[in-house]
Amino acid sequence: MATLLLENISTLVTVAAPPGRLRRSGSEMADIGVLRDVDVAVEGEAIDWIGPAGTGRFPDAERIDCRGRTVLPGFVDSHTHIVHAGDRAHEFAMRLRGATYQEIAAAGGGILSTMRSVRESSVDEIVERSRPLVESAFRHGSTTIEAKSGYGLDTENELKLLEAIARLGEAAAPTLIPTFLGAHDFPPEHRSDHEPYIAEIIDRMIPAVAGRGLAQFCDVFSDTGYYTVEESERIFRAARDHGLRLRVHADELSSFGGAEMAARIGALSADHLLMISDPGIEAMRDADVVATLLPGTAFFLNLPYAPARRMIERGMTVALATDCNPGSNMCENMQMTLALACMGMRMTVEEAITAATLNGAAALDIAETVGSIEVGKVADMAIFTTADYPGIVYHYGVNQVMAVIKRGRFHRW
Ligand code: NIG
Ligand code: FE
Repeated sequence: MATLLLENISTLVTVAAPPGRLRRSGSEMADIGVLRDVDVAVEGEAIDWIGPAGTGRFPDAERIDCRGRTVLPGFVDSHTHIVHAGDRAHEFAMRLRGATYQEIAAAGGGILSTMRSVRESSVDEIVERSRPLVESAFRHGSTTIEAKSGYGLDTENELKLLEAIARLGEAAAPTLIPTFLGAHDFPPEHRSDHEPYIAEIIDRMIPAVAGRGLAQFCDVFSDTGYYTVEESERIFRAARDHGLRLRVHADELSSFGGAEMAARIGALSADHLLMISDPGIEAMRDADVVATLLPGTAFFLNLPYAPARRMIERGMTVALATDCNPGSNMCENMQMTLALACMGMRMTVEEAITAATLNGAAALDIAETVGSIEVGKVADMAIFTTADYPGIVYHYGVNQVMAVIKRGRFHRW
């Protein structure tokens, strides 16, 4: 009794997980499960059947004519700061005139500039500022989006930002997954003495966030000039004690031991990793920590890309995400992220697709229900204008998504 039948699919990329597993690591990432001339039936919110085209089954289902195009699982964008206030286009222009990201931050711009905008905004204003970005991400094929706080930097404003993420999650089409990132930077009132702010995170913010169910994850920006490894571990221990799962901004600006820490504390994912060391790669691989790479940020900040080839050759589980944020990558487009991964980090199209779907879901521990097109999973899919999947990267810089199916509902524009 299917409700929707997708027909005339030329290429169905399932990205099915290997039997008994919920991710693809190393050389397994090249295998994306390409099926030709199949139909897909959806019942309610779930994928019900995948089989040969034109069987005449499901006569009562609403028919979606895919017009000989490619269907992929919806993208899982597992690292964003997409919910925020204000804009920092002027800082971008300053960087193009020669200032570095760190110099701008030291002069009171950067994360603190967005913090001021968030503190001045109401929950409703943050929702209205962020809604177009979230809707645009959806129209570019993202059906699940992780969203971090980290621009409030005090208890009241961190809770306000998480409240805005929750409200937007109810109103917008894609699923939003909230992460608490109180340890994104130090607020101006605690810049010279970090201890009282770390105490506020541990004693007030984490209990409040966990108690109200406002986040599933805790993240820390662990890097030179931000949180030391020791400070990060203290925060993570408190978060874990309150039932939050862990993810880390690691080794973005310097080789800092962030990857090794992520392995030690049992993080689900460590992200950025532009400067990861070889021992860091091995420690993360052996502890099954997903390496979430954000090539848009390297591109936007003109930094060297993360060593994706070395990571895949050593057997890591690599995911791709946008990092969409007002400072280091103002881009919500996962198709562009794939193109940068292929051209900047020499990932193959197949590896990039796996990284942006199934492995993104693994990074959020939701691969049991989303991230691939398999019977029983949630019907989250994107239909692309290209007849075969390499065209998604080949014809880059434009939106090739012509429709999205989210929880079994068809969206076209
Ligand atoms: O992931 N690295 C830390 N945080 C963000 C940047 C946030 C901002 O500049 O607003 C990032 O790159
Ligand atoms: Fe980030």
